[in-house]
Amino acid sequence: MDTNQLKKAAAEKAAEFVEDGMMLGLGTGSTVFYLVEAIAKHVREEHLQITGVATSSRTAQQATSLGIKMIDINDAPTLDLTIDGADEIDQNFQGIKGGGAAHLLEKIVAINSKRNIWIVDESKLVEHLGAFPLPLEVIPFGCDKVFQRLTAENLQPKYRLDDKGERVRTHNKNFVIDLHAGTIAHPHLLADWLDHQTGIVEHGLFLDLVNTVVVGKESGVEVLQ
Ligand code: 5RP
Repeated sequence: MDTNQLKKAAAEKAAEFVEDGMMLGLGTGSTVFYLVEAIAKHVREEHLQITGVATSSRTAQQATSLGIKMIDINDAPTLDLTIDGADEIDQNFQGIKGGGAAHLLEKIVAINSKRNIWIVDESKLVEHLGAFPLPLEVIPFGCDKVFQRLTAENLQPKYRLDDKGERVRTHNKNFVIDLHAGTIAHPHLLADWLDHQTGIVEHGLFLDLVNTVVVGKESGVEVLQ
């Protein structure tokens, strides 16, 4: 099976967690693409009444086009459940997100949800976080000063560039800096330090947020709790 089939299998399994009447957070990425398709199918076939909050315009457009009612997070009460992808997950369900530059909106939605589930293919499960470069969303004003501070801490920052060599802009027109520092031995300590750096709007360490991971494996789908 290729990676996309594993992502699709995980997404379809996770869609079974969606119940009638739920207020649902929908993440961003290629795995979530399959999730939105699977949820829309449940909604159609089982006449579920669900309302969604999206973490990107991509997800919002897809969900709306498939008939899922979407609202702004500011108009939503606490979300019942958010389902999202991830870039890396360790054995304690700590994760790195932001490969799609959506981690700021994803974290806002995640912390406003009663429950969070991640959907991944098995390549995303790791022993230690850090092989995947850690994304930071940084405001353009003074961003090179932030970059210098990160360099001084030996965090090996690189601006994320698009196909044309331009700096990637997030939903909020900020830049993305990826940290290529390798293994993150102490995720909480690093998250705490990053949280205190003025100019960094949000980092991609998602800690203590998730209690269920649905993994697409060659041997089948596994629900880890
Ligand atoms: C976007 C994310 C995604 O959830 C993460 O990058 C996983 O993406 P994919 O499902 O395409 O592998 O954090 O900011």
